[in-house]
Amino acid sequence: MDTPQDRSPLITASRESRESNTEPKVSSRLPGFYELPIGERLNTVAKAAGLSESDRFHLGQFGCLNGELTDVFIENAVGTFSLPLGVATNFLVNGREVLVPMAVEESSVLAAASHGAKLARLGGGFKASATDPVMTGQIQLFLTKDCEFDTILSSRKNDLIAFANRGHDSLLARGGGACDLDWHFIPEMKSVVIHLHIDTRDAMGANIVNTMCERLSSVMPEILPCDIGLRILTNLTERRLARAECLVPASAFDSSEFVGTEVVDRIEKAFLFAHSDVHRATTNNKGIMNGIDPVLIATGNDWRAVEAGAHAWACRDGKYRPLATWRKTLHGDLHGSMEIPMAVGVVGGVTKLHPAAQAALKLMGNPNANTLAQIVVATGLAQNLSALRALASEGIQRGHMSLHQKNLDLLQRRSSGGINSN
Ligand code: MEV
Repeated sequence: MDTPQDRSPLITASRESRESNTEPKVSSRLPGFYELPIGERLNTVAKAAGLSESDRFHLGQFGCLNGELTDVFIENAVGTFSLPLGVATNFLVNGREVLVPMAVEESSVLAAASHGAKLARLGGGFKASATDPVMTGQIQLFLTKDCEFDTILSSRKNDLIAFANRGHDSLLARGGGACDLDWHFIPEMKSVVIHLHIDTRDAMGANIVNTMCERLSSVMPEILPCDIGLRILTNLTERRLARAECLVPASAFDSSEFVGTEVVDRIEKAFLFAHSDVHRATTNNKGIMNGIDPVLIATGNDWRAVEAGAHAWACRDGKYRPLATWRKTLHGDLHGSMEIPMAVGVVGGVTKLHPAAQAALKLMGNPNANTLAQIVVATGLAQNLSALRALASEGIQRGHMSLHQKNLDLLQRRSSGGINSN
């Protein structure tokens, strides 16, 4: 006989899913899979997993790509995955009107970004800036003998930079190239870690950095008694930062329910809460990445790299902190600012080949990498402003749920058989 626990909906659901036959029917070892034409790959896995014709159809769509491009972008491709693409409005960045393309699945993100930009606009929009696009590569060396590595590296620094730049004439002609080199020592590993700093201009630059580091590492044993360790860029791009700030008049927060000056006070307190509390800081920064990642995705940029850099940056003083700062000014208005690592590119790889990424960049007026970095940071700041405004006044659920309701309604109609999911 069923116990009351057995009859709970949760137990029934998990039993059903255990009983439904969704297990792949063959091994996940698929030798030569990567060599198959894309359509055959899809057939192979669809058969293995017992997918329906409709599942197979959905996995094998190409949207604005085609089989050839998809196959070039990744290995083992079977199709593409669609995300909604929207355009956030109201952005004024350094006095320039910008339409911001965002690819994201979360219902309230576009509305929030546009609302944050509208608030910032009342104070003149976002002022933004960026450092030169300088990426950093790490070359790890293991000393095989004690040596005066500081003296040796100091005396050879310029030669090493010149060597790193050999063969990169077109990057040099565009004003980029290796521009600095420094190092630190990890005593417990007897490891000297060289940082090679490279201006990659309009490229995100991962390939340029890794290529230069691998090549430069090959000459290091001629200079120091060492074995070579890792050669790879760091995603903590401390020399490639972008910054945005905005000033929102307190009156912008006036409503029938709230007095603007109180909302400013509460937003400042929300910032201080995140500054002292890692759990709040994490959610606060997730909200900022709600603004940043979708622009990176829409423009074909590596959002995992930016995410990694942003979170490492958030704990650069040893404690995980909010990425943006919000303060009440002497006049009682709200000032917000954010400076974070922002390694983005507008040339190379996916950005150039993906037709939608190209169109998204055109929508933004074809920014260079530095301008794109500034727009991305402004979008993150707008997103944070909008979330904090809601959290500091009526709460997040009123707006969020009214937008999310459309998802729930669709789910309801589908489960009652009203809409064909194809
Ligand atoms: C939800 O995706 C993002 C927020 O939780 C951000 C925040 O709390 O600051 C609303």
